[in-house]
Amino acid sequence: MKPLSIRNKIWLTITSVSVLTIILVVVVSYYLYQTLYIEKQTETLLKQGQALEQSYYENNPENFSKRLDWLDNSSDTSVIFTEDPMLLASGAPFDSFAEENLITFSERQDLLKGKTLTFTKYHTGLDQEISAVVIPLSVENRLKAVIFLYIPLTAIAEAFEPIRNFLLVGVVLVIFLLILVGTKMTNRIVQPIKQMEKVAKDIAQGDFSKRLLIKGEDEIASLARSINTMSSNLDEVDRNRREFLGNVSHELRTPISYLKGYSEGLEEGIIPIQKFAETVKKETDRMDRLVHDLLDLAQLEGDSYPMNKEPVILAELVKEVLERFRLTLDDKSLVTEVQLDDVVVVNGDYGRLDQVMENLLSNAIKFSSANRKIRILVKERKETGVLEIEDEGIGIPEEDIPYIFERFYRVEKARTRKSGGTGLGLSIVQQIINKHEGRIHVDSKRGKGTVVIVEIPLFDFQ
Ligand SMILES: Nc1ncnc2c1ncn2[C@@H]1O[C@H](COP(=O)(O)OP(=O)(O)O)[C@@H](O)[C@H]1O
Ligand SMILES: [Mg+2]
Repeated sequence: MKPLSIRNKIWLTITSVSVLTIILVVVVSYYLYQTLYIEKQTETLLKQGQALEQSYYENNPENFSKRLDWLDNSSDTSVIFTEDPMLLASGAPFDSFAEENLITFSERQDLLKGKTLTFTKYHTGLDQEISAVVIPLSVENRLKAVIFLYIPLTAIAEAFEPIRNFLLVGVVLVIFLLILVGTKMTNRIVQPIKQMEKVAKDIAQGDFSKRLLIKGEDEIASLARSINTMSSNLDEVDRNRREFLGNVSHELRTPISYLKGYSEGLEEGIIPIQKFAETVKKETDRMDRLVHDLLDLAQLEGDSYPMNKEPVILAELVKEVLERFRLTLDDKSLVTEVQLDDVVVVNGDYGRLDQVMENLLSNAIKFSSANRKIRILVKERKETGVLEIEDEGIGIPEEDIPYIFERFYRVEKARTRKSGGTGLGLSIVQQIINKHEGRIHVDSKRGKGTVVIVEIPLFDFQ
């Protein structure tokens, strides 16, 4: 069997619930009406009978018979009065109930004892249900006569007529309403689901451009919102991936084309072997750096990459890195002004923080012209150790500052390529600082210089 669609399931539910409800309402109201109605009829019959009974005992036969006739003719109630001792004593039926044993033997016994009877039963002579009251009339403890009052119950069906019509109109109205509400409801549920299915299929096929139209605030809308978010995230990831691949291939293509050009030049004898060797060395170094940085970045971007945190004396680390750069600094005749607070101990991975310092210092050197000053400061502020590296170099244009942490971003591509930059340094720095729950901030003025401020949480000695 084909599984039911959601639309059909909803309709099946609506239909079965409403059919059940309608049946229940009709049955209950009919039942209530009938019981209440019969109760009321019996009560009326009893009252009428009691009035007649009273009249009988007044010993005014003329008046009594007038009342009998009047009751018989003026209402739905039929009255039988009999004084026939034969009828009363024997098992013979009452006149109009010929062939009908309307009163059973035990009921007759009750009458003889002076008990009033009330009952509802089927009367074959009249071919209908009747509701009846039988009142015994006794004088000196002897049954003298019987008043038999009854009313046909077909009247119930008639009495039920107005509410039946009312119910019918109600049912039609309810069905109409249910169809309306059901259609609206299924549309509200099914249509968005179908759209989501379509978009999900597109996503599966790699098309992340589709977005869902969101209406309302319910669970379906929230699901649609999630799908939209997922889609735009995937879109971004996809775009980043393409951009990254494009960048990587571009970065690799340049050194490769250099190598190709130089080897062709060598073959044709235009380029001396010395020059060729230099270029091969430079370009392979460059590719090596690039691949190394890329691998490093890929590792750092993985969530599970661990930092071996330990207490790190920032001043020591700065001194060590400076020592390594001594020659380079001297080559460029750069002056360093160092102000290091020895007591600053941060919670960090020594090797990684070394890498941060190295990257920032090499940038400061690279983008400074000769005879300028580089100021390095280590201090404590609130719960963090602060490292500031300030240069008097070329600076970064204000509009470029937001992008310098992006992979491969370089303000002047050609110029930084010559100096060996991959454009990955600051991305790596940012990743490392993020992994230390630290912060990095860059302030720069074009032509004036740059200051980079790094904050790393202090080591907690407790
Ligand atoms: N101290 C600085 N002074 C001027 N520009 C800087 C400085 N530091 C970084 N930049 C700019 O930010 C870019 C990105 O830096 P980075 O990621 O370290 O790449 P790379 O050093 O390989 O060029 C650099 O290319 C440069 O344009
Ligand atoms: Mg750099």
